[in-house]
Amino acid sequence: MDLPRPGGGNWSIVTKTSSFTAPKGIPDYVPPASAEFVAVRDGLVRAARLAGYGHVELPVFEDTALFARGVGESTDVVTKEMYTFADRGERSVTLRPEGTAGVMRAVIEHGLDRGQLPVKLCYSGPFFRYERPQAGRYRQLQQVGVEAIGVDDPALDAEVIAVADAGFRSLGLEGFRLEITSLGDETCRPQYRELLQEFLFALPLDEDTRRRAEINPLRVLDDKRKEVRALTAGAPLMLDHLSDSAKAHFEQVLGHLDALGVPYVINPRMVRGLDYYTKTTFEFVHDGLGAQSGIGGGGRYDGLMAELGGQPLSGIGFGLGVDRTMLALQAEGKAAGEPARVDVFGVPLGEAAMARLVVLAAELRAAGIRVDLAYGGRGVKGAMKAADRSGAAFALVLGDRDLADEQVGLKDLGSGDQRQIPLAEVVAQVSAALAGQR
Ligand code: HAM
Repeated sequence: MDLPRPGGGNWSIVTKTSSFTAPKGIPDYVPPASAEFVAVRDGLVRAARLAGYGHVELPVFEDTALFARGVGESTDVVTKEMYTFADRGERSVTLRPEGTAGVMRAVIEHGLDRGQLPVKLCYSGPFFRYERPQAGRYRQLQQVGVEAIGVDDPALDAEVIAVADAGFRSLGLEGFRLEITSLGDETCRPQYRELLQEFLFALPLDEDTRRRAEINPLRVLDDKRKEVRALTAGAPLMLDHLSDSAKAHFEQVLGHLDALGVPYVINPRMVRGLDYYTKTTFEFVHDGLGAQSGIGGGGRYDGLMAELGGQPLSGIGFGLGVDRTMLALQAEGKAAGEPARVDVFGVPLGEAAMARLVVLAAELRAAGIRVDLAYGGRGVKGAMKAADRSGAAFALVLGDRDLADEQVGLKDLGSGDQRQIPLAEVVAQVSAALAGQR
């Protein structure tokens, strides 16, 4: 089968295949592991809610130019990893590789920056990067993020960091560390950039690396090759060249973190994959994950809003990796979340019983009780097995004779005890029985 391709030509779609698999490098989360996914995502979001961050739900694709300008044209994310395509109206759109640029766009578009500041927003969902898949590195990755826009206050930096730290800890995660640095401000950064370039241009670098030094010299400090690392070991560091105000800001952030009891290590060589960072910049690193050790990261981005056509307002935020946090919990041998289970399982013995149990189940659910039934006309043995597997505390066993007596059997699946209760009192009796077990 051929499908018209935007911009001309055809996609050739192979329709005769025996089975499908998820696209390469993209994890599916199915029960029971999906319960862990939900617990991690919701746990991280809860920490943000406790600090007053309001939910934003944004498009998963945007104008390509938003990311090129927002994330930075010299980054790997923009040059190599974006899922960019022309839509049927010939517009270039890109699946969001990260959340901050889209949040800025929405804040400007909806005029949130003209109301109470800081604007504090929280989001969660999928992001897309065409990276080489490996353990913990996916092409569809899930993040929980926050952005606090419009106030340049070290206490706000500390809040953002403390929220991330509290989010991880609320899940029981322990083996991570917070690395932090300052990338300077608009006064000291350009001077430092020149100083670093001067240092780099004096080194015997290959063509590609030299070019990188011209576009974004900081990125050369992030080069993983041993020989380049050795050459740049004595490079000047931003932290030693901060302006007085950037230095004071950084020291105050650290002071707040000390007071909050949030442990950190200063990493003056930290290089983030996105270009918008200024001043406070941080990463959460977990050693149980191998090469892909970053479970979250963020920082200030004081020039981003103006760069995207808005007011010159400051901002700070983080993105926490849900997938990697799950892997980190597994590495620590900890489980988050409870697999989906019900409180009560209905066992019908015959069609009339089934019809009655369908209605009873709806009544119990309306009262907030989790209920499932043995569907498919299974025999009593199979149905009781299903009841045991469901994790339910009780089974409701209903046969024809019970129906005639307006009774139903309430079986405690833990002890095996069974007693008859009036059908008219099922909701009240089951509620009481469940309360008695808690
Ligand atoms: P980021 O450091 O690019 O920052 O991503 C944040 C987190 O997302 C990473 O620490 C990692 O846990 C997870 N992550 C990134 N790429 C992958 C991948 N390929 N597979 C699995 N997990 C991944 C940002 O995206 C910024 N928008 C964060 C931010 C918000 N800064 C300020 N505000």
